[in-house]
Amino acid sequence: MRLDHIAYRVKDRDAAVKFFKEAFGYTEQAEFDLKLEDGSTARCMALEPPEKQQVALPQFVADGFHLAPEIFVSSGPPGSLIDRWVNEWGRGVGAIHHLAYQVDDVQATMRDWLDKGLMFTTDGPLECPNLTQIFSQPHPLTGIIYEFIARKGNHGFCKENVAKLMSSTSKLA
Ligand SMILES: [Fe+2]
Repeated sequence: MRLDHIAYRVKDRDAAVKFFKEAFGYTEQAEFDLKLEDGSTARCMALEPPEKQQVALPQFVADGFHLAPEIFVSSGPPGSLIDRWVNEWGRGVGAIHHLAYQVDDVQATMRDWLDKGLMFTTDGPLECPNLTQIFSQPHPLTGIIYEFIARKGNHGFCKENVAKLMSSTSKLA
């Protein structure tokens, strides 16, 4: 099991992205805006770790190398789902919203965790081509939302899944 990405919700996405680029050498992978089910909007940026620029990913995966995780940063206008979460859980600045772990089978992992009493924000995994994801509810011992993600190849993020996952947290915000 490997940490796939760390997702932050912040007040100022562009300033946070600048920090990650300058401090850690992250590079921009994808930028997009989302419209969520409650009508609010979100600005998103996916960042890749610098290691990907230097070494072919498949060889490192084959060798068991632990590649640094990607980073996903989002913000939203005042009153939006993301902004309300930042004000409540991020002291008005920002915080880690969830940790995403890559697994072989999201459905099987979900069933296993349900047996252990962990709840999820959707009835089942969300599917995009080559990408399957689900959010847990905040864990009762750590307070963290865990995402389980299965990838076929290196396809980055899927806007449709991100929008559905963000919307699924509206009752938690
Ligand atoms: Fe995520």
